[in-house]
Amino acid sequence: MDQISPDTADPNGLSADHNQLKYMPGFGNDFETEALPGALPQGMNSPQKCAYGLYGEQLSGTAFTAPSHQNERTWCYRIRPSVKHSGRYRKIDLPYWKSAPHVVDDVISLGQYRWDPVPHTEEKLTWLTGMRTMTTAGDVNTQVGMASHIYLVTQSMRDAYFYSADSELLIVPQEGRLRFCTELGVIDLEPKEIAILPRGLVYRVKVIEGPARGFVCENYGQKFELPGRGPIGANCMANRRDFKTPVAHFEDREAASTLTIKWCGQFHETKIGHSPLDVVAWHGNYAPVKYDLRNYCPIGAILFDHPDPSIFTVLTAPSGVPGTANIDFVLFRERWMVMEDTFRPPWYHKNIMSELMGNIYGQYDAKPQGFVPGGMSLHNMMLPHGPDNEAFEGASNADLKPNKLDKTMSFMFETRFPQHLTEFAAKEAPLQGDYIDCWDTLEKKFDGTPEGTWNK
Ligand SMILES: [Fe+2]
Repeated sequence: MDQISPDTADPNGLSADHNQLKYMPGFGNDFETEALPGALPQGMNSPQKCAYGLYGEQLSGTAFTAPSHQNERTWCYRIRPSVKHSGRYRKIDLPYWKSAPHVVDDVISLGQYRWDPVPHTEEKLTWLTGMRTMTTAGDVNTQVGMASHIYLVTQSMRDAYFYSADSELLIVPQEGRLRFCTELGVIDLEPKEIAILPRGLVYRVKVIEGPARGFVCENYGQKFELPGRGPIGANCMANRRDFKTPVAHFEDREAASTLTIKWCGQFHETKIGHSPLDVVAWHGNYAPVKYDLRNYCPIGAILFDHPDPSIFTVLTAPSGVPGTANIDFVLFRERWMVMEDTFRPPWYHKNIMSELMGNIYGQYDAKPQGFVPGGMSLHNMMLPHGPDNEAFEGASNADLKPNKLDKTMSFMFETRFPQHLTEFAAKEAPLQGDYIDCWDTLEKKFDGTPEGTWNK
């Protein structure tokens, strides 16, 4: 049984002490949790009458007939069924939150792009009004591809709730602390953690410590899952037990409220007279989850050369093509570099996949300057990239002692689809006009001498 004392400063809220929040360990488990004793039916899903006068309702995250190892659904026992949250809808405009396909002609010339952190302004922004789409890829209507966003949040949602029918959201905070009060429980989130909010889950977002800024990957496709480890075996990388799903928590609250739905790239609002976060008990495997990136156990080269960066995959959202992700979420964190006779930074590269990176903190080894915490870069389909001149010269001439990359955490949203810039990304966000110059000073080294370090 979980009860959290009300926060008198916030009529919608819970206590600010997130140590009171409780989570269940595991990824994709079949969880069960109840906020009142006996609220969860045992041995069946649809009793003739549920305990406490609750309504039973299923939330299906996959088709009924999805293979059993992929099938995801959760049974909710709630004060009112969701249909009671659904009045007449009115289309509303959230002009900075875009969905694919969103190809703006001539928004900017083709290129490698990098941005400084999008700054906060005086404007009061919530989770909905503060979402700033940077790129879109694929097509929300056919449920392939993704969008990347920056969020700038200074204000809690009050008597306002939201869900996305289009997507699950992978949230990567960079600054500030947010509380996600969802139908299935409460998640507090701060930098170095991530969360996944499933498609269809209703929630509101409260600012615990602001201003808050971070990155969002909006996944239109199949859900994120843990990558197969192959010969690595049963341990390391992201381990299932380190993922945390909240216990049931409900609000029995009547107040004039709004519920906003993102549906096929549009936003619709309806009025309701109560909190829709009224699930008293639930069981199932379709639920929100958080993960502390400091628990990610990197695997890497221990003698010479590099594995591909896919070795750092935290989560993968498959496409229909085996081994070719709709999205990979990849983490570049603290680790030892021990490779002998090896150019240790990432190699020069052209890629059929499109790579959007963000810096959570510290310095990234391929770009010692210019890629700063809160900043982003985009190396799109088949556009070349790699270490800048400073990184190349440094790594080519370094004494190859074991060396720890310390105080560094960057990530990549990598997708099989090309990413298109929004007008915001091209014209309002702090795009670095001189990014391409970081490779300008790379010199011709070819001098007719055949020796490299490898054949001496
Ligand atoms: Fe790359």
